[in-house]
Amino acid sequence: MTSRKALIAGNWKMFKTIPEAVDFATALRKALTSLPPHVEVVVAPPSVALLPTAQVLESAPIAVSGQNVYPANEGAFTGEISPTMLKAAGCSYCIVGHSERRQYFHETDAFVREKVDALLAEGITPIFCIGESLAQRQANETFSLLSTQLNATFANRDREQAEQIVIAYEPIWAIGTGHTATPAQAQEVHAFLRQQLDHSFGADTAQRIRILYGGSVKPDNIDDLMKQPDIDGALVGGASLKLDSFVRIVSFQSPAA
Ligand code: 13P
Repeated sequence: MTSRKALIAGNWKMFKTIPEAVDFATALRKALTSLPPHVEVVVAPPSVALLPTAQVLESAPIAVSGQNVYPANEGAFTGEISPTMLKAAGCSYCIVGHSERRQYFHETDAFVREKVDALLAEGITPIFCIGESLAQRQANETFSLLSTQLNATFANRDREQAEQIVIAYEPIWAIGTGHTATPAQAQEVHAFLRQQLDHSFGADTAQRIRILYGGSVKPDNIDDLMKQPDIDGALVGGASLKLDSFVRIVSFQSPAA
């Protein structure tokens, strides 16, 4: 983990109404009053619940993230939300390129890059997701696919910008399936990604960029995942919806602690 601050992010996906989000945030805030200094916590509620959640968490050490963004600050884009609007709703992070967006809403690598650019311009930290399907893993395409996805967003970018992007490696076959990647499998990919970043930006920048793992992260596997040298945190779906499991994940046993 070196000196990178761990980041645990809960992606609520399309779960929780506004009252449910407010109740959860209120309980989370109470449960996490003494967050260890080596951990940063983020929750990503559905868009209508962003502002009420951010209001509850205003003075708490828990940041709020969008789940998606449109890469323009305003305009005739029915149904979309801009970086400026996310910021005004209290977001300091936003997930982009989630495999569910790529799969169900046909988002391309180029479009995801536009979103990353739009967020950086607004001072919002992108949580940029990449990951291979089971078929791609079985066909030994994992590393070439990840390299393509990574380059699409990181090519022709300066070091300063690159360091502001958080990467989330989420193998599609591990999302919501209960089949988490083993810590060794995840570490292998994370080390590969950091090596790619090292080639592009040099060791200092590569060592500063945070790479999260996502895909069936649970209280019983977080400790082993976080022991891996290149895993800097987790993007948690299902287990972030329940207070007990999310609090347990946030309180992972840090090798540094
Ligand atoms: P699960 O933790 O439910 O597998 O979801 C992972 C995910 O997609 C987080 O973005």
